[in-house]
Amino acid sequence: MADLSINLAGIKSPNPFWVASAPPSNTAYQCHRAFEAGWGGVVWKTIGDPIVNVSSRYSSHNIGGIRMVGFNNIELISDRSPETNFREIEECKKRWPDRAVIASLMTDTREHWHDYMKRSRDCGADGVELNFGCPHGMCERGMGSAVGQNPDVIETIVGWVMEAAEIPVIVKLTPNITSVAHAARAAKRGGANAVSLINTINSITQVNLDTMCPEPYVAGRSTHGGYCGPAVKPIALNMLHEVASDPEVGLPISGIGGISNWKDAAEFIALGATGVQVCTAIMHYGFRIVEDMIDGLNDYLDSKGMKSVSDMCGKAVHSVNKWETLDLNYKRVASIDYDKCIGCNLCYIACEDGAHQAIGLVKPTTQGLGPGRLPGKPIPEIKEDHCVGCNLCSLVCPVDHCITMVDVKTGGKPMSWKDYQAALVAGKMKPIPAHP
Ligand SMILES: Cc1cc2nc3c(=O)[nH]c(=O)nc-3n(C[C@H](O)[C@H](O)[C@H](O)COP(=O)(O)O)c2cc1C
Ligand code: SF4
Ligand code: SF4
Repeated sequence: MADLSINLAGIKSPNPFWVASAPPSNTAYQCHRAFEAGWGGVVWKTIGDPIVNVSSRYSSHNIGGIRMVGFNNIELISDRSPETNFREIEECKKRWPDRAVIASLMTDTREHWHDYMKRSRDCGADGVELNFGCPHGMCERGMGSAVGQNPDVIETIVGWVMEAAEIPVIVKLTPNITSVAHAARAAKRGGANAVSLINTINSITQVNLDTMCPEPYVAGRSTHGGYCGPAVKPIALNMLHEVASDPEVGLPISGIGGISNWKDAAEFIALGATGVQVCTAIMHYGFRIVEDMIDGLNDYLDSKGMKSVSDMCGKAVHSVNKWETLDLNYKRVASIDYDKCIGCNLCYIACEDGAHQAIGLVKPTTQGLGPGRLPGKPIPEIKEDHCVGCNLCSLVCPVDHCITMVDVKTGGKPMSWKDYQAALVAGKMKPIPAHP
Protein backbone atom coordinates (compact mmCIF):
# COMPACT_ATOMS: atom_id res chain seq x y z
CA MET A 1 0.00 0.00 0.00
CA ALA A 2 1.44 3.32 -1.06
CA ASP A 3 1.35 6.39 1.18
CA LEU A 4 -1.51 8.52 -0.15
CA SER A 5 -1.11 11.35 2.34
CA ILE A 6 -0.29 14.83 1.10
CA ASN A 7 0.99 18.07 2.53
CA LEU A 8 -0.14 21.09 0.51
CA ALA A 9 1.67 24.17 1.80
CA GLY A 10 1.42 22.83 5.36
CA ILE A 11 -2.15 21.53 5.06
CA LYS A 12 -2.07 17.78 5.68
CA SER A 13 -4.62 15.22 4.63
CA PRO A 14 -4.61 11.41 4.60
CA ASN A 15 -5.29 11.27 0.87
CA PRO A 16 -5.19 13.74 -2.04
CA PHE A 17 -8.98 13.78 -2.58
CA TRP A 18 -10.77 16.90 -1.35
CA VAL A 19 -14.36 17.97 -1.81
CA ALA A 20 -14.33 21.29 -3.74
CA SER A 21 -16.06 24.40 -2.47
CA ALA A 22 -19.62 23.90 -3.78
CA PRO A 23 -23.02 22.47 -2.75
CA PRO A 24 -21.51 19.18 -1.43
CA SER A 25 -19.50 21.17 1.15
CA ASN A 26 -22.34 23.44 2.19
CA THR A 27 -23.05 22.08 5.68
CA ALA A 28 -21.44 20.15 8.54
CA TYR A 29 -23.91 17.33 7.86
CA GLN A 30 -22.53 16.92 4.33
CA CYS A 31 -18.92 17.24 5.43
CA HIS A 32 -19.40 14.48 8.02
CA ARG A 33 -20.86 12.28 5.29
CA ALA A 34 -17.93 13.12 3.00
CA PHE A 35 -15.38 12.23 5.70
CA GLU A 36 -17.24 9.04 6.59
CA ALA A 37 -16.99 8.03 2.92
CA GLY A 38 -13.21 8.64 3.04
CA TRP A 39 -12.54 12.10 1.56
CA GLY A 40 -9.23 13.51 2.78
CA GLY A 41 -10.38 17.11 2.93
CA VAL A 42 -13.21 19.54 2.37
CA VAL A 43 -13.09 23.08 1.04
CA TRP A 44 -16.18 24.68 2.58
CA LYS A 45 -18.78 26.32 0.35
CA THR A 46 -17.57 29.92 -0.04
CA ILE A 47 -18.35 32.05 3.01
CA GLY A 48 -19.24 35.72 2.58
CA ASP A 49 -22.09 38.09 3.20
CA PRO A 50 -25.00 35.66 2.80
CA ILE A 51 -26.51 35.96 -0.68
CA VAL A 52 -29.96 35.37 -2.14
CA ASN A 53 -30.07 32.71 -4.86
CA VAL A 54 -32.44 32.34 -7.84
CA SER A 55 -34.52 29.36 -8.89
CA SER A 56 -33.70 27.47 -11.11
CA ARG A 57 -29.86 27.31 -10.99
CA TYR A 58 -28.33 24.44 -12.96
CA SER A 59 -28.26 23.21 -16.53
CA SER A 60 -26.22 20.59 -18.32
CA HIS A 61 -24.67 19.58 -21.59
CA ASN A 62 -25.69 16.01 -22.38
CA ILE A 63 -24.16 14.05 -25.24
CA GLY A 64 -26.21 11.15 -26.59
CA GLY A 65 -27.19 9.10 -23.58
CA ILE A 66 -24.52 10.55 -21.35
CA ARG A 67 -25.86 13.08 -18.89
CA MET A 68 -23.94 16.00 -17.40
CA VAL A 69 -20.88 15.69 -19.61
CA GLY A 70 -20.71 19.39 -18.79
CA PHE A 71 -22.52 21.06 -15.91
CA ASN A 72 -23.49 24.72 -15.58
CA ASN A 73 -24.60 26.73 -12.56
CA ILE A 74 -25.66 30.28 -11.75
CA GLU A 75 -25.53 29.71 -8.01
CA LEU A 76 -23.67 32.21 -5.84
CA ILE A 77 -21.66 31.71 -2.66
CA SER A 78 -23.12 30.45 0.64
CA ASP A 79 -26.61 31.63 1.53
CA ARG A 80 -25.91 30.80 5.19
CA SER A 81 -24.45 33.28 7.65
CA PRO A 82 -20.70 33.40 8.35
CA GLU A 83 -21.51 32.64 12.02
CA THR A 84 -23.25 29.39 11.10
CA ASN A 85 -20.51 28.41 8.64
CA PHE A 86 -17.59 29.10 11.01
CA ARG A 87 -19.39 27.32 13.88
CA GLU A 88 -19.96 24.25 11.71
CA ILE A 89 -16.35 24.25 10.49
CA GLU A 90 -15.23 24.18 14.13
CA GLU A 91 -17.58 21.29 14.86
CA CYS A 92 -16.35 19.40 11.81
CA LYS A 93 -12.67 19.91 12.52
CA LYS A 94 -13.09 18.74 16.12
CA ARG A 95 -14.80 15.58 14.96
CA TRP A 96 -12.32 14.88 12.13
CA PRO A 97 -8.92 16.12 13.34
CA ASP A 98 -6.96 14.08 10.77
CA ARG A 99 -8.81 15.56 7.76
CA ALA A 100 -8.20 18.91 6.05
CA VAL A 101 -10.94 21.48 6.53
CA ILE A 102 -10.43 24.63 4.47
CA ALA A 103 -12.55 27.78 4.73
CA SER A 104 -13.32 29.28 1.32
CA LEU A 105 -13.71 33.03 1.61
CA MET A 106 -15.01 35.92 -0.48
CA THR A 107 -15.35 39.47 0.74
CA ASP A 108 -14.41 43.01 -0.26
CA THR A 109 -12.53 45.46 2.00
CA ARG A 110 -9.19 45.02 3.74
CA GLU A 111 -10.94 45.06 7.14
CA HIS A 112 -13.38 42.37 6.07
CA TRP A 113 -10.57 40.16 4.76
CA HIS A 114 -8.72 40.58 8.07
CA ASP A 115 -11.88 39.72 10.00
CA TYR A 116 -12.54 36.56 7.92
CA MET A 117 -8.92 35.43 8.29
CA LYS A 118 -9.14 35.76 12.08
CA ARG A 119 -12.44 33.89 12.22
CA SER A 120 -11.07 31.12 9.99
CA ARG A 121 -8.11 30.65 12.29
CA ASP A 122 -10.26 30.81 15.43
CA CYS A 123 -12.62 28.10 14.20
CA GLY A 124 -9.68 25.75 13.66
CA ALA A 125 -9.64 25.66 9.84
CA ASP A 126 -6.43 24.16 8.46
CA GLY A 127 -6.23 26.84 5.82
CA VAL A 128 -8.26 29.19 3.66
CA GLU A 129 -9.01 29.33 -0.05
CA LEU A 130 -9.70 32.76 -1.56
CA ASN A 131 -12.46 32.51 -4.14
CA PHE A 132 -11.23 34.73 -7.00
CA GLY A 133 -13.00 32.59 -9.55
CA CYS A 134 -16.80 32.71 -9.35
CA PRO A 135 -17.75 33.93 -12.89
CA HIS A 136 -21.38 34.95 -12.34
CA GLY A 137 -23.23 37.26 -10.00
CA MET A 138 -20.45 37.91 -7.52
CA CYS A 139 -18.19 39.37 -10.25
CA GLU A 140 -20.92 41.95 -10.99
CA ARG A 141 -20.37 43.04 -7.37
CA GLY A 142 -16.60 43.38 -7.88
CA MET A 143 -15.65 40.02 -6.36
CA GLY A 144 -14.95 36.48 -7.63
CA SER A 145 -13.62 36.45 -11.18
CA ALA A 146 -13.60 40.27 -11.27
CA VAL A 147 -10.62 39.93 -8.90
CA GLY A 148 -9.13 36.84 -10.56
CA GLN A 149 -9.06 38.54 -13.97
CA ASN A 150 -6.91 41.41 -12.77
CA PRO A 151 -3.39 40.45 -11.60
CA ASP A 152 -2.85 43.83 -9.85
CA VAL A 153 -6.03 43.38 -7.81
CA ILE A 154 -5.08 39.75 -7.01
CA GLU A 155 -1.73 40.90 -5.69
CA THR A 156 -3.29 43.68 -3.60
CA ILE A 157 -5.97 41.52 -2.02
CA VAL A 158 -3.65 38.57 -1.35
CA GLY A 159 -1.33 41.14 0.29
CA TRP A 160 -4.16 42.26 2.61
CA VAL A 161 -5.00 38.65 3.44
CA MET A 162 -1.39 37.76 4.21
CA GLU A 163 -1.18 40.65 6.69
CA ALA A 164 -3.62 38.70 8.87
CA ALA A 165 -2.76 35.14 7.82
CA GLU A 166 -1.73 32.66 10.50
CA ILE A 167 -2.82 29.61 8.50
CA PRO A 168 -1.95 28.66 4.89
CA VAL A 169 -3.62 30.63 2.11
CA ILE A 170 -4.64 29.04 -1.21
CA VAL A 171 -5.71 31.36 -4.04
CA LYS A 172 -8.38 29.84 -6.29
CA LEU A 173 -7.94 31.07 -9.86
CA THR A 174 -10.43 31.70 -12.63
CA PRO A 175 -10.05 30.07 -16.06
CA ASN A 176 -11.85 33.05 -17.65
CA ILE A 177 -8.59 34.79 -18.42
CA THR A 178 -6.03 34.82 -21.24
CA SER A 179 -3.06 33.74 -19.14
CA VAL A 180 -3.71 31.96 -15.88
CA ALA A 181 0.03 31.94 -15.19
CA HIS A 182 -0.03 35.74 -14.89
CA ALA A 183 -2.76 35.44 -12.27
CA ALA A 184 -0.77 32.77 -10.41
CA ARG A 185 2.35 34.95 -10.49
CA ALA A 186 0.32 37.80 -8.95
CA ALA A 187 -0.86 35.47 -6.19
CA LYS A 188 2.76 34.53 -5.53
CA ARG A 189 3.85 38.20 -5.43
CA GLY A 190 1.06 38.86 -2.93
CA GLY A 191 2.51 36.14 -0.68
CA ALA A 192 0.08 33.23 -1.26
CA ASN A 193 1.15 29.78 -0.04
CA ALA A 194 -0.58 27.82 -2.84
CA VAL A 195 -2.97 28.17 -5.76
CA SER A 196 -5.94 26.07 -6.81
CA LEU A 197 -7.44 25.85 -10.30
CA ILE A 198 -9.78 25.87 -12.08
CA ASN A 199 -13.00 27.49 -10.99
CA THR A 200 -15.86 27.35 -13.50
CA ILE A 201 -15.79 28.54 -17.13
CA ASN A 202 -18.28 31.09 -18.54
CA SER A 203 -20.91 29.21 -20.47
CA ILE A 204 -24.41 28.92 -21.89
CA THR A 205 -25.20 25.22 -22.23
CA GLN A 206 -28.44 25.22 -24.21
CA VAL A 207 -31.25 27.39 -25.57
CA ASN A 208 -34.83 26.21 -25.12
CA LEU A 209 -36.28 26.71 -28.61
CA ASP A 210 -39.86 26.95 -27.31
CA THR A 211 -39.24 29.67 -24.75
CA MET A 212 -36.31 31.19 -26.71
CA CYS A 213 -34.51 31.39 -23.38
CA PRO A 214 -31.39 29.49 -22.33
CA GLU A 215 -31.37 27.17 -19.33
CA PRO A 216 -31.36 27.59 -16.39
CA TYR A 217 -34.65 29.47 -16.76
CA VAL A 218 -35.52 32.21 -14.29
CA ALA A 219 -38.89 33.85 -15.03
CA GLY A 220 -38.26 34.29 -18.76
CA ARG A 221 -34.57 35.17 -18.41
CA SER A 222 -31.27 33.44 -17.94
CA THR A 223 -27.65 34.44 -17.45
CA HIS A 224 -24.27 32.98 -18.32
CA GLY A 225 -23.14 30.42 -15.77
CA GLY A 226 -20.04 28.54 -14.64
CA TYR A 227 -19.17 25.37 -16.60
CA CYS A 228 -17.58 22.34 -14.95
CA GLY A 229 -17.71 18.54 -15.00
CA PRO A 230 -15.93 16.01 -17.27
CA ALA A 231 -16.00 18.35 -20.31
CA VAL A 232 -13.69 20.89 -18.67
CA LYS A 233 -10.93 18.45 -17.72
CA PRO A 234 -8.78 19.12 -20.83
CA ILE A 235 -8.96 22.89 -20.22
CA ALA A 236 -8.14 22.44 -16.55
CA LEU A 237 -5.16 20.18 -17.32
CA ASN A 238 -3.78 22.72 -19.77
CA MET A 239 -4.10 25.57 -17.27
CA LEU A 240 -2.61 23.40 -14.54
CA HIS A 241 0.38 22.73 -16.76
CA GLU A 242 0.72 26.42 -17.56
CA VAL A 243 1.02 27.22 -13.87
CA ALA A 244 3.04 24.14 -12.87
CA SER A 245 5.66 24.76 -15.56
CA ASP A 246 6.03 28.49 -14.91
CA PRO A 247 9.31 29.06 -13.07
CA GLU A 248 8.01 32.38 -11.72
CA VAL A 249 5.15 30.69 -9.86
CA GLY A 250 6.70 27.74 -8.01
CA LEU A 251 3.74 27.30 -5.64
CA PRO A 252 2.02 24.04 -4.62
CA ILE A 253 -1.18 23.48 -6.63
CA SER A 254 -4.56 21.99 -5.79
CA GLY A 255 -5.96 20.70 -9.12
CA ILE A 256 -9.67 21.04 -9.95
CA GLY A 257 -11.86 20.57 -13.02
CA GLY A 258 -13.70 17.54 -14.37
CA ILE A 259 -12.15 14.97 -12.05
CA SER A 260 -14.42 11.92 -11.76
CA ASN A 261 -12.17 8.97 -10.95
CA TRP A 262 -8.68 7.97 -9.75
CA LYS A 263 -7.22 8.16 -13.24
CA ASP A 264 -8.34 11.76 -13.78
CA ALA A 265 -6.84 12.59 -10.39
CA ALA A 266 -3.57 10.82 -11.19
CA GLU A 267 -3.28 12.82 -14.42
CA PHE A 268 -3.65 16.09 -12.50
CA ILE A 269 -1.01 14.96 -10.02
CA ALA A 270 1.34 13.92 -12.84
CA LEU A 271 0.93 17.40 -14.34
CA GLY A 272 1.93 19.10 -11.12
CA ALA A 273 -0.98 19.07 -8.64
CA THR A 274 -0.18 18.07 -5.07
CA GLY A 275 -3.80 17.03 -4.55
CA VAL A 276 -7.18 17.42 -6.23
CA GLN A 277 -10.69 18.72 -5.58
CA VAL A 278 -13.96 17.33 -6.92
CA CYS A 279 -17.43 18.87 -7.26
CA THR A 280 -19.57 17.75 -10.23
CA ALA A 281 -18.78 14.03 -9.94
CA ILE A 282 -19.99 14.15 -6.31
CA MET A 283 -23.13 16.05 -7.31
CA HIS A 284 -23.75 13.33 -9.93
CA TYR A 285 -22.84 10.15 -8.07
CA GLY A 286 -22.42 11.02 -4.38
CA PHE A 287 -19.55 10.93 -1.88
CA ARG A 288 -19.08 7.16 -2.29
CA ILE A 289 -16.98 7.63 -5.46
CA VAL A 290 -13.97 8.31 -3.25
CA GLU A 291 -13.71 4.64 -2.29
CA ASP A 292 -12.83 3.65 -5.87
CA MET A 293 -10.59 6.69 -6.18
CA ILE A 294 -8.53 5.61 -3.16
CA ASP A 295 -8.33 1.96 -4.27
CA GLY A 296 -7.54 2.84 -7.88
CA LEU A 297 -4.76 5.29 -7.02
CA ASN A 298 -3.28 2.82 -4.54
CA ASP A 299 -3.25 -0.01 -7.08
CA TYR A 300 -1.74 2.25 -9.73
CA LEU A 301 1.07 3.46 -7.46
CA ASP A 302 1.80 -0.13 -6.36
CA SER A 303 1.85 -1.33 -9.97
CA LYS A 304 4.43 1.34 -10.80
CA GLY A 305 6.50 0.67 -7.69
CA MET A 306 5.87 4.17 -6.34
CA LYS A 307 5.89 4.42 -2.57
CA SER A 308 3.83 7.58 -2.23
CA VAL A 309 1.56 9.89 -4.15
CA SER A 310 4.20 12.61 -3.95
CA ASP A 311 6.53 10.33 -5.99
CA MET A 312 4.41 10.99 -9.06
CA CYS A 313 3.73 14.69 -8.50
CA GLY A 314 4.81 16.67 -11.57
CA LYS A 315 6.32 13.66 -13.39
CA ALA A 316 4.65 14.65 -16.70
CA VAL A 317 5.28 18.41 -16.50
CA HIS A 318 8.49 18.44 -18.53
CA SER A 319 7.17 16.25 -21.34
CA VAL A 320 4.94 19.15 -22.45
CA ASN A 321 6.90 21.69 -24.45
CA LYS A 322 6.49 24.27 -27.18
CA TRP A 323 5.47 22.90 -30.60
CA GLU A 324 8.77 24.13 -32.04
CA THR A 325 10.67 21.59 -29.93
CA LEU A 326 8.85 18.51 -31.31
CA ASP A 327 10.74 16.08 -33.56
CA LEU A 328 9.72 16.52 -37.24
CA ASN A 329 11.40 13.23 -38.16
CA TYR A 330 9.33 11.09 -35.80
CA LYS A 331 6.58 9.07 -37.49
CA ARG A 332 3.74 6.82 -36.48
CA VAL A 333 1.27 4.95 -38.66
CA ALA A 334 -2.04 3.25 -37.94
CA SER A 335 -2.19 -0.53 -37.63
CA ILE A 336 -5.38 -2.60 -37.49
CA ASP A 337 -5.78 -5.72 -35.36
CA TYR A 338 -8.11 -7.74 -37.58
CA ASP A 339 -9.01 -10.13 -34.76
CA LYS A 340 -10.74 -7.20 -33.04
CA CYS A 341 -12.16 -5.36 -36.07
CA ILE A 342 -15.98 -5.50 -36.32
CA GLY A 343 -16.04 -4.15 -39.88
CA CYS A 344 -17.95 -0.93 -39.15
CA ASN A 345 -15.68 0.98 -41.55
CA LEU A 346 -15.87 4.17 -39.46
CA CYS A 347 -12.11 4.44 -39.79
CA TYR A 348 -12.34 4.31 -43.59
CA ILE A 349 -14.95 7.09 -43.74
CA ALA A 350 -13.07 9.28 -41.28
CA CYS A 351 -9.78 8.99 -43.14
CA GLU A 352 -11.37 9.29 -46.58
CA ASP A 353 -13.48 12.38 -45.84
CA GLY A 354 -11.72 13.96 -42.86
CA ALA A 355 -8.06 13.05 -43.12
CA HIS A 356 -5.61 11.79 -45.72
CA GLN A 357 -7.24 9.04 -47.82
CA ALA A 358 -4.85 6.50 -46.35
CA ILE A 359 -7.34 3.69 -45.76
CA GLY A 360 -8.61 1.53 -48.59
CA LEU A 361 -11.44 -1.00 -48.56
CA VAL A 362 -10.20 -4.37 -49.78
CA LYS A 363 -11.48 -7.90 -50.04
CA PRO A 364 -10.41 -9.94 -46.99
CA THR A 365 -7.52 -12.18 -47.92
CA THR A 366 -5.15 -13.44 -45.29
CA GLN A 367 -6.60 -11.46 -42.36
CA GLY A 368 -8.67 -13.27 -39.76
CA LEU A 369 -12.43 -12.69 -39.50
CA GLY A 370 -13.05 -10.43 -36.51
CA PRO A 371 -16.21 -10.41 -34.42
CA GLY A 372 -19.34 -9.40 -36.35
CA ARG A 373 -17.59 -9.20 -39.73
CA LEU A 374 -19.36 -10.75 -42.65
CA PRO A 375 -17.45 -13.11 -44.98
CA GLY A 376 -16.59 -11.35 -48.22
CA LYS A 377 -17.41 -7.84 -46.87
CA PRO A 378 -14.59 -5.41 -47.71
CA ILE A 379 -12.33 -4.56 -44.81
CA PRO A 380 -10.22 -1.47 -44.15
CA GLU A 381 -6.54 -1.59 -45.00
CA ILE A 382 -4.00 1.06 -44.05
CA LYS A 383 -1.89 2.46 -46.90
CA GLU A 384 1.22 3.12 -44.86
CA ASP A 385 2.80 5.37 -47.48
CA HIS A 386 -0.16 7.77 -47.30
CA CYS A 387 -0.74 7.59 -43.56
CA VAL A 388 0.50 10.74 -41.80
CA GLY A 389 -0.11 9.27 -38.35
CA CYS A 390 -2.79 11.79 -37.40
CA ASN A 391 -4.55 9.33 -34.98
CA LEU A 392 -8.06 10.08 -36.32
CA CYS A 393 -8.96 6.49 -37.27
CA SER A 394 -7.81 5.16 -33.88
CA LEU A 395 -9.96 7.82 -32.19
CA VAL A 396 -13.14 7.00 -34.11
CA CYS A 397 -12.70 3.21 -33.97
CA PRO A 398 -15.29 1.95 -31.47
CA VAL A 399 -13.23 -1.08 -30.41
CA ASP A 400 -10.52 -0.58 -27.78
CA HIS A 401 -6.99 -1.36 -29.00
CA CYS A 402 -8.26 -2.37 -32.46
CA ILE A 403 -6.35 0.42 -34.21
CA THR A 404 -3.02 1.19 -32.62
CA MET A 405 -0.44 3.70 -33.70
CA VAL A 406 2.97 2.14 -34.24
CA ASP A 407 6.36 3.79 -34.60
CA VAL A 408 8.09 3.53 -37.97
CA LYS A 409 11.74 4.21 -38.67
CA THR A 410 12.22 7.25 -40.87
CA GLY A 411 16.00 7.10 -40.84
CA GLY A 412 16.14 10.81 -40.02
CA LYS A 413 17.86 12.13 -36.91
CA PRO A 414 15.65 14.00 -34.41
CA MET A 415 15.03 17.49 -35.83
CA SER A 416 12.77 20.13 -34.37
CA TRP A 417 11.28 23.11 -36.24
CA LYS A 418 13.93 25.23 -34.56
CA ASP A 419 16.72 22.90 -35.77
CA TYR A 420 15.16 22.86 -39.23
CA GLN A 421 15.06 26.66 -39.47
CA ALA A 422 18.67 26.90 -38.25
CA ALA A 423 19.80 24.28 -40.81
CA LEU A 424 18.01 26.17 -43.63
CA VAL A 425 19.61 29.46 -42.66
CA ALA A 426 23.05 27.81 -42.46
CA GLY A 427 22.46 26.22 -45.89
CA LYS A 428 22.92 22.75 -44.39
CA MET A 429 19.71 21.38 -45.88
CA LYS A 430 17.13 22.06 -48.56
CA PRO A 431 13.47 22.82 -47.70
CA ILE A 432 11.38 19.69 -47.12
CA PRO A 433 9.13 19.36 -50.22
CA ALA A 434 5.46 20.24 -49.66
CA HIS A 435 2.85 17.46 -49.89
CA PRO A 436 1.42 17.03 -53.39
C1 LIG B 1 -23.29 24.45 -8.19
C2 LIG B 1 -21.87 24.86 -7.98
C3 LIG B 1 -21.55 25.78 -7.01
C4 LIG B 1 -20.22 26.17 -6.82
N1 LIG B 1 -19.92 27.05 -5.82
C5 LIG B 1 -18.64 27.39 -5.60
C6 LIG B 1 -18.30 28.22 -4.51
O1 LIG B 1 -19.13 28.62 -3.70
N2 LIG B 1 -16.98 28.56 -4.36
C7 LIG B 1 -16.02 28.12 -5.20
O2 LIG B 1 -14.85 28.45 -5.01
N3 LIG B 1 -16.32 27.31 -6.23
C8 LIG B 1 -17.61 26.92 -6.44
N4 LIG B 1 -17.90 26.06 -7.46
C9 LIG B 1 -16.81 25.60 -8.35
C10 LIG B 1 -16.22 24.25 -7.89
O3 LIG B 1 -15.61 24.36 -6.63
C11 LIG B 1 -15.17 23.75 -8.90
O4 LIG B 1 -14.13 24.69 -9.00
C12 LIG B 1 -15.74 23.51 -10.29
O5 LIG B 1 -17.04 22.97 -10.20
C13 LIG B 1 -14.86 22.58 -11.12
O6 LIG B 1 -14.78 21.30 -10.57
P1 LIG B 1 -15.66 20.03 -11.11
O7 LIG B 1 -15.44 19.94 -12.57
O8 LIG B 1 -15.17 18.85 -10.31
O9 LIG B 1 -17.08 20.37 -10.81
C14 LIG B 1 -19.21 25.64 -7.65
C15 LIG B 1 -19.55 24.70 -8.62
C16 LIG B 1 -20.85 24.30 -8.79
C17 LIG B 1 -21.19 23.27 -9.82
S1 SF4 C 1 -13.22 1.52 -37.10
FE1 SF4 C 1 -12.18 -0.15 -36.08
S2 SF4 C 1 -13.73 -1.76 -35.99
FE2 SF4 C 1 -14.47 -0.29 -37.46
S3 SF4 C 1 -13.70 -1.08 -39.43
FE3 SF4 C 1 -12.16 0.37 -38.67
S4 SF4 C 1 -10.72 -0.93 -37.57
FE4 SF4 C 1 -12.57 -2.13 -37.84
S1 SF4 D 1 -3.73 7.83 -38.79
FE1 SF4 D 1 -4.80 9.42 -39.97
S2 SF4 D 1 -3.87 9.33 -42.00
FE2 SF4 D 1 -3.32 7.43 -40.97
S3 SF4 D 1 -4.87 5.99 -41.57
FE3 SF4 D 1 -5.55 6.87 -39.64
S4 SF4 D 1 -6.85 8.60 -40.23
FE4 SF4 D 1 -5.68 8.02 -42.04
